Amino acid sequence: MSASSMTATSIWRTEMAKRRRVAILISGRGSNMTALIEAATAKDYPAEIVLVISNIAGAGGLAKAAEAGIETATIESKAFGKDRESFERKLNEALVAHNIELVCFAGFLRLLTPWFVKQWEGRMLNIHPALLPSYRGLHTHERALADGVKIHGATVHFVVPEMDSGPIVMQGAVAVRDDDTPDTLARRVLAVEHQIYPDALRLVASGGTRIENGLCKPNAKGSPDDTLISPAII
Ligand code: GRF
Repeated sequence: MSASSMTATSIWRTEMAKRRRVAILISGRGSNMTALIEAATAKDYPAEIVLVISNIAGAGGLAKAAEAGIETATIESKAFGKDRESFERKLNEALVAHNIELVCFAGFLRLLTPWFVKQWEGRMLNIHPALLPSYRGLHTHERALADGVKIHGATVHFVVPEMDSGPIVMQGAVAVRDDDTPDTLARRVLAVEHQIYPDALRLVASGGTRIENGLCKPNAKGSPDDTLISPAII
């Protein structure tokens, strides 16, 4: 091996060593999980996906993660009944055992106790299919259409004890079409989710954000001045 290629290899190793160890928590098909796994295959991505955990046995995302060569685990929340904290302690044990540094919820259908959230405060992200703080909770696309909003979208945010709240890292928007149904709107929003989640994780994992007075701020100067007006008058 030449001296120059050795240098390149050692630089690459150092870069890889700096990658944050990420676990993804899922309950379903895991399309956001797949977007994160794919993004993390890039050499310069500052995070590696080392573990996928589902709280539902047989969740579709588990097989996809295994296909991508990622370790998977199932910790069935159902088995713990109303004892939420025992479930979370098991979850926490698995995360700690794998030296996880950041946790990403990707369609993880489970409300968490303040105890669990505290363990991962500032190190746990979620994606929600709406422009928070609008439309917390379920059926976001139906509710957006019922309200006649003209712009809708998705949000990546840090997890806090309150559902679908917490410092917003990144948002992506789509124009709502006059003939949209919940399904057509969901499809376009999902495409945006697959864009912003990998970008938001990149930003956070590389240390590109800070929390100030409960808000997430990017460390880099400058912000986009793109404007989305909907409907466009033609
Ligand atoms: C996504 O719409 C996400 O925003 C929400 O649950 C859905 C999960 O989809 N939290 P997938 O499992 O990532 O395909």
